[in-house]
Amino acid sequence: MSAQVIDGVRIAEEVRRELREQVGALRAKGIVPGLGVVLVGEDPASRSYVTAKEKACAELGIHSDDNRLPATTSKEELRRLIHKMNGDPRISGILVQLPLPRHLDESEILFDIDPAKDVDGFHPVSVGRMMLGQETFLPCTPHGVIVMLRRSGVKVSGAEVVVVGRSNIVGKPLANLLLQKSELGNATVTVCHTGTRDLAVHTRRADIVIAAAGRPRTITADMIRDGAVVIDVGVNRVPDASKKSGFRLVGDVDFDAVSQKASLITPVPGGVGPMTITMLLLNTVEAARRQAGRATA
Ligand code: GUN
Repeated sequence: MSAQVIDGVRIAEEVRRELREQVGALRAKGIVPGLGVVLVGEDPASRSYVTAKEKACAELGIHSDDNRLPATTSKEELRRLIHKMNGDPRISGILVQLPLPRHLDESEILFDIDPAKDVDGFHPVSVGRMMLGQETFLPCTPHGVIVMLRRSGVKVSGAEVVVVGRSNIVGKPLANLLLQKSELGNATVTVCHTGTRDLAVHTRRADIVIAAAGRPRTITADMIRDGAVVIDVGVNRVPDASKKSGFRLVGDVDFDAVSQKASLITPVPGGVGPMTITMLLLNTVEAARRQAGRATA
């Protein structure tokens, strides 16, 4: 059996088309969604993510405020910038690209973002509200994975889902959303990680395997049961002398072998990545809408 490949670019474009209309309607009322983007340092992967996010904003008519700061930026300088953006009515959402240089404490910096502008969903208030099933901004990659599953016709409710990875950005929030009694979840969720004794025992039972371990070939064909759905969140740069850049992107899944057993599978690139950016756009539009509602209430 050969899996059907889930086209993340196509699904992302579908959602972006809907968002473009929403932005048009907001702009007609004088409301322009704006995203404040902060990148500290020169990490090449972070630079390319931030560039892609700003380009996606421009395509939708979302204003973006680009702040690229040197790696030597102090905590005080960064906090001042975030406080300025918190108070700027042209900025609906704030994105601080992670990871930050080591001298900056990520949790302290993220805590400074006004939760009403926390379009990444990383502030402890946003995380708490998500866990409680309250209205908030959902973190972009987990939300993107769930939207992708739904738009591909995969039934999540009642499914056995194995999430591989327990990061604060993907594994933990994704597991939490999937287990919630809501239209996004209602799955039976197992979270595996580097402390898991026998990963394959868990993945072989799964209807849906979501790989977010950050390591190539974490998921091989022998670990997947026939007909499972496999979502690859991994983005790993591996050396490739045949490429001009000197590297190519691979996921956490051994795509060629696993696609012979799975029923549906996401590629890397062109799978989850475009969905993550799309969910950031969705949150930014929603932030603008909520703030405009508050201003006129
Ligand atoms: N670094 C890796 N993924 C993300 C993300 O979704 N948001 C931010 N801000 N940084 C990241």
